[in-house]
Amino acid sequence: MSFFKRTIRSVPIDNKTVLIRADYNVPQSKTGAISDDLRIRASLPTIEYLLEHHCKVVIMSHLGRPEGREEKYSLKPVAKRLSDLLDRKVIFVDDCIGDKVVQAVKKAPTNSVILLENLRYYTEEEANDTAFAENIAKSTGARYFVQDGFGVVHRAHASTEAITHFIPSVSGLLLEREYVTITGAMEKPQRPLIAVMGGAKISDKITVIERFVGIADKIIIGGAMSNTFLKYKGHHMGNSKVEDGQEKVLDSIYLAAHKKLDTSIDDFIILPDDVAVASQISEAATRKNVKLGNLDEKDIALDIGDASIDRMVEEIATAKTVIWNGTLGYAELPEFAHGSARLALSLAAQAETTSIIGGGDTADFVLKWDGKGGESFTHVSTGGGASLELMAGKKLPGIESLLDAPR
Ligand code: 3PG
Repeated sequence: MSFFKRTIRSVPIDNKTVLIRADYNVPQSKTGAISDDLRIRASLPTIEYLLEHHCKVVIMSHLGRPEGREEKYSLKPVAKRLSDLLDRKVIFVDDCIGDKVVQAVKKAPTNSVILLENLRYYTEEEANDTAFAENIAKSTGARYFVQDGFGVVHRAHASTEAITHFIPSVSGLLLEREYVTITGAMEKPQRPLIAVMGGAKISDKITVIERFVGIADKIIIGGAMSNTFLKYKGHHMGNSKVEDGQEKVLDSIYLAAHKKLDTSIDDFIILPDDVAVASQISEAATRKNVKLGNLDEKDIALDIGDASIDRMVEEIATAKTVIWNGTLGYAELPEFAHGSARLALSLAAQAETTSIIGGGDTADFVLKWDGKGGESFTHVSTGGGASLELMAGKKLPGIESLLDAPR
């Protein structure tokens, strides 16, 4: 499948000053250290391509949701990590507009890499402010804008939308890979396609679930989301987290599934038969397996149960494509990460299966678990909300605003 937007490969970019929008909104520990650098590593191919083409590379990003110029959201530590990964100097400028940027870009020789300070230190960024975008364009003097921050293309912000009105705008290699891999697996999957959905809430993922009802061969549901499905189906869920007010959504999901099926609905939307419970959510909690129908008032379902894990692994073994969004239990606690870990293990061992891991919590989980930085899977997405919106089939402003690919 080809990409419908121009990329850095299809424009005469040699020797130009190029402005990249990256998504360096990386998870940080309490001390401010970068706890996962997937998004920085994933940005390297585009930067390296531009350096090979003798460009001056200026990069901009946001980090977190600062209120004003909060030091803990500075991108300075990202400049250091980027420099280590590229094995070359990265010039850090502590602003993203104005004279400091003008001077730094002017002084930097060809083949320099410059990282600008957090865009969200200015409220104009999230307001998609035209004058702010024009200021970025003028300050950097960039001849091309390269959108490579896949994680942020669902936002219409100054650095993702307004900027494209001032500089010819094309896609970077990461954005192209994310789009082609995810859209390809949704539109032309190798079958059987199994979707695995977890996480806390149905309401965050309704449109994705509805889309999978249309295109998947099976859907496995876990996480706190499955509690809501199970309660809807009449099961007593004890003290488990259940999302209220989802009956109509679930009615329509089951109605749509009924219409497409000639097999049993429970073989299409696969729910746990047993759950792992505890009476409290804490490090000290121990895992107890309980069959549905046997939960006490105090029981909190925190993972799919052992029998359900075995069933899920058997199902996964039949798949040619697996798209996984949302952990299957309370994976922050190792006792309740069994379901997610067994799924990750199975996928990593199935070399013939295309395995696509949605971003956000699911990506964080597999990266902590996978010793190979995510390489055990076909694709670990760098986008949280962006990957969900792409899977839901939505048009994303940060992609739509780029130049179309030549026909
Ligand atoms: C993300 O982490 O999903 C992106 O960087 C977007 O961040 P935001 O949700 O704060 O806009």
